[in-house]
Amino acid sequence: MALTDPGMAAPPLSLEHLPTPTGLVDLPRLQANCLRMAERADRLGVRLRPHVKTHKTAEVARLQLAGRATSITVSTLAEARFFAERGFADVLYAVPITPQRLPAALELARRLERFTLTLDHPRVAAAAAEAAASADLRLGVMLEVDCGAHRCGVDPASPEAVALAAQVAASPRLELRGLLTHAGHAYACPSLAEVAAVAGQEREVTVTLARALRQAGVGVGEVSVGSTPTICAVDHLTGVDEVRPGNYVFFDAFQAAMGSCGLEECAFTVLTTVVGCYPERRTLVVDAGALALSKDAGPTHLDPHCGFGVVCGAADCSPLPGLHLASLTQEHGTVRARTPQVAAAFPPGARLRIIPNHSCLAAACFDVYHVVDGDRVLDLWRPCRGW
Ligand SMILES: Cc1ncc(COP(=O)(O)O)c(C=O)c1O
Repeated sequence: MALTDPGMAAPPLSLEHLPTPTGLVDLPRLQANCLRMAERADRLGVRLRPHVKTHKTAEVARLQLAGRATSITVSTLAEARFFAERGFADVLYAVPITPQRLPAALELARRLERFTLTLDHPRVAAAAAEAAASADLRLGVMLEVDCGAHRCGVDPASPEAVALAAQVAASPRLELRGLLTHAGHAYACPSLAEVAAVAGQEREVTVTLARALRQAGVGVGEVSVGSTPTICAVDHLTGVDEVRPGNYVFFDAFQAAMGSCGLEECAFTVLTTVVGCYPERRTLVVDAGALALSKDAGPTHLDPHCGFGVVCGAADCSPLPGLHLASLTQEHGTVRARTPQVAAAFPPGARLRIIPNHSCLAAACFDVYHVVDGDRVLDLWRPCRGW
């Protein structure tokens, strides 16, 4: 447990002992976020298969699932292996598989009770069927559908979508477990009403294609949808079987600006120390730069001057509106103060906390999270890293 200065034996008990920059997880906020989403999935009548890419820790995944299941979504094969080793038996890899990764996928299919991969291309489907045949296995497949985000997925209105689903369903070595979509374009919506409309589209597009395929005699299994903003905004999920939100465990400044949460629900923050104080320029410099916060520009479509995160008090994590995180370089964050007096109140050595624009990216900057309740450090959690 190398927490602070080398040579220090006992773990520090409060925030003031921690070196900076440090990634903090607020346990009560995290627990409340996990509980609320589990209840929401229950109310919507769907299974929660949470995405674990935001935190990449077994501890948070267990809170997400509340002991009820071991079904998760991952975005790297390293995550799939990490969670398999920790008892998560049902893993969905929700990034299109490539032929090069099929041997690793076969290994996971052997090892896990249930491993499901994702694809959206007929050549990959053919390669997956061939690899499964040579390993004498059957691979579970989700067909990714583009519901409007235009990142990955087949065009649901195209004949290729039907042909690919039929190809997978017809292969004795593949099992078409369902259709998967992710409405990433919800993040660009200018209002909650539009997020709700995108959530409706995410559901409608996928359920409609599943219905059409079933009518055509192609058994498609389940419908899997979800992002944090759409699941927070959707009013019903008729026809959907499971949802895969992930970011909600921590939320962040982006989600708060969109209205998915309040700033007081954000559970991941970066503890930082003031290294430079220049009241005459109304400027502070902190030791959290892009390598501690990432350089996500944030919800600039809602607020062009949103900055790189929300600056908060170190002790109570309440926002300090007089301070604005204006720019980041590798190891420096430049904070503009409303007045010289505000800047002068934070001399070098003063501590602040930043709610990052994008908690998934900021959390990925740290090899260990310090779990806190108020200013007490309760635990250390080590996330999966690598690919
Ligand atoms: C395929 C897929 N499903 C689910 C999610 C979770 O979405 P969010 O991060 O909005 O919770 C993501 C996030 O990128 C994703 O790529």
